[in-house]
Amino acid sequence: MRVSTGWWLMGQRPEFLFVTCQVGAERAVKFELAGRWPRFRPAFSRPGMLTFKLPPDDRLVADFDLRSVFARAYGFSLGVVSGSDMVRLARAAWALYGGRPCRRIHVWPRDTAPPGDGGYEPGMTREAREAWGALHACCPRPGELAPDADAPDRPGRKGEFVLDCILVEPDQWCVGYHRVRDVSSQWPGGLIPLEPPPHAVSRAWLKMEEALHWSGFPITAGARCAELGSAPGGSTQALLDRGCEVMGIDPAEMHPAVLAHPCFTHVRARVRQVRRRLFRRVRWLVADMNVAPRCTLDALEDIVTHPEVNVRGIIAMLKLSQWAVAENLDRYLARVRSWGFNVVRARQLRYNRQEICFAALKRPFVRRRYRWT
Ligand SMILES: C[S@@+](CC[C@H](N)C(=O)[O-])C[C@H]1O[C@@H](n2cnc3c(N)ncnc32)[C@H](O)[C@@H]1O
Repeated sequence: MRVSTGWWLMGQRPEFLFVTCQVGAERAVKFELAGRWPRFRPAFSRPGMLTFKLPPDDRLVADFDLRSVFARAYGFSLGVVSGSDMVRLARAAWALYGGRPCRRIHVWPRDTAPPGDGGYEPGMTREAREAWGALHACCPRPGELAPDADAPDRPGRKGEFVLDCILVEPDQWCVGYHRVRDVSSQWPGGLIPLEPPPHAVSRAWLKMEEALHWSGFPITAGARCAELGSAPGGSTQALLDRGCEVMGIDPAEMHPAVLAHPCFTHVRARVRQVRRRLFRRVRWLVADMNVAPRCTLDALEDIVTHPEVNVRGIIAMLKLSQWAVAENLDRYLARVRSWGFNVVRARQLRYNRQEICFAALKRPFVRRRYRWT
């Protein structure tokens, strides 16, 4: 934990933390935080949004790492304002914000739909845009805002202080702040906005594209990838669109548009039926199989620990058949580290349904050469 001096000197330590998450993931967030931050006490919560009372002597800085898989966004909570007049709400929000520096304003609604039922699509609702407009217009020190902070959906820059406004209800706003620390915290609610291209054959394009942005992995033109569970092919397309070579392994049919791509090869089989030698040239392994997490991990382990295989990074989706499976995540990630991946992170992405994504990397990566005998 890092020690903050700034707010402390101002005598304005926030007492609460807010977290927004997918509807249904609240229990998983509480479980994670109880383990990692045992002194945080659950307080006010709604589906898709939780708050925690911080211990009186906490010294968290505004860009601290909550180390949560299920929190899409988090920050310090300053309180709730309610009412039907938007201008009054905006003024009350700024009053709560006090004299803190502010480079940007983030507004988003808490998630209200169950996963897969349109939750967080679109993230920026009409109400959120209107609330953002009112907050922007009432900003007491507009000269402090970043020059490009003149629209509600622009990404923040590392180090910027952000006023957070979560629409608990359209007429009830939770006001807080955070400091941008990574890709997710750049965006309102941690919701990276993506538009699938017209040629995308499945929604999985969004999932893979988001995973690529979030992980920041250098998967660029010419990268050799294999995807376990590739049909019909949306996530494969996200890789092909980047100029990667992709081998898709799936017993199901690929979409004809993907099959026709010159950089795609379909191995129509279950992973276990595929000879490991086929993975010798593969540097990036992607998995999106509709099987239990243990089966995905068994399949990945079998490939990446094979002596002839030299994979640099993995991006994999783990399906949570029940939310209780979330309680095993630390063990799953420890298992991935045991394969030699020293950078391992996980997140429930905006476009994940009842599943999570993990990204694992070997850094530095040592290229091995084999004699192909
Ligand atoms: C969620 S879908 C994959 C979606 C795909 N990534 C896309 O972008 O369209 C899950 C896929 O996993 C495949 N699958 C399940 N078990 C598998 C296994 N043992 N080996 C390979 N594929 C498997 C299924 O056939 C199914 O097509």
